[in-house]
Amino acid sequence: MSREKRKLDHIEHALKTGQAGDNGLEDVKFVHQSLPNSSVEAVDLSTSLATLSFDAPFMINAMTGGGGTATEGINRQLAEIAAHFHVPIAVGSQMAALRDPDQEQSFKVVREYNKEGLVFANLGSEATVEQAKRACDLIKADLLQIHINTVQELVMPEGDRSFDGALERISQIQEALPIPVMVKEVGFGMSKEAATKLAPIVDAIDVGGYGGTNFSKIENARREMPYSFFDDWGISTAASIVETREGFSKGVSATGGIRSATEIAKSIALGADMCGMAGYVLKLLQNGGQKHAIQTLSHMLEELTFIMTALGASDVGALKQVPLVIQGNTYHWLSQRDLH
Ligand code: FNR
Repeated sequence: MSREKRKLDHIEHALKTGQAGDNGLEDVKFVHQSLPNSSVEAVDLSTSLATLSFDAPFMINAMTGGGGTATEGINRQLAEIAAHFHVPIAVGSQMAALRDPDQEQSFKVVREYNKEGLVFANLGSEATVEQAKRACDLIKADLLQIHINTVQELVMPEGDRSFDGALERISQIQEALPIPVMVKEVGFGMSKEAATKLAPIVDAIDVGGYGGTNFSKIENARREMPYSFFDDWGISTAASIVETREGFSKGVSATGGIRSATEIAKSIALGADMCGMAGYVLKLLQNGGQKHAIQTLSHMLEELTFIMTALGASDVGALKQVPLVIQGNTYHWLSQRDLH
């Protein structure tokens, strides 16, 4: 199967499989405050991650590029959405462009349509320092995401079968690059053990938790003999944020089934600096068009402002401090893992 075909398959199956909607954030409850001493006008949604600052606590996470004109069109529209909100956007894995210069344009388009914005490069942990430099140069990246996706590779028929030396390569890349490096999971979540190993090495982690786009289900849909035991494998987004914060004090982004202002607010209250959204933005764009996506995301930010007003949290720093009650599966997970 060609790489280009795989990129288009991923988009098609991501839209069809949808998002599971059990990312653990439903277990997180805010404690209502009757005297918030706040106003909508005073709420400031801006946030920062590593050395980068932007207008609202979300980003369009890595999805595509390298599938010819179809992915180029999607990336152009996603880039314009990110530019509209002054939030970061990550391109999909750039390995295709490093191997075949004909695929470069579908990535470069993101920088061309978001000239002044924050654009993140993306490669897997098999990448070398040389490849990382080329990927960043191609789109004048502000940050490099390195995705770690062991489960997806195992389920993918043409996927990797050896995962040796990833930490060492990530460390060499971070040392060689002048921009921050973020390690990101792709939907199976982040443990405190992994976050602790990454802490001395990288500037940011995207927890990529379970409960959103499910790459085990997507890859299994492409196989004749599925490996379905991985379909419900992973650490939920809610638990992943707390796990990560236990071992990592730098930038944390929470991705994994984020589709609403409430989920963004809860993620930040659990300790994230911001959220990443992939499948939901793709669905808004592909099903309703770019204008619909912008309207829906604008509404989401208005809702976030109202939630923060009701909680008396006028900025992202204050939202991190609001009291929470955690129940259900997430409570049991965190108790057994000794995380509070
Ligand atoms: C992805 N994702 C992804 N991540 C990555 O680091 N490199 C990549 O090339 C891709 N490709 C990709 C394609 C498509 C179609 C989707 C939907 C997603 C993973 C993505 O960035 C994110 O981690 C997961 O999708 C979980 O977030 P959501 O979709 O639940 O918001």
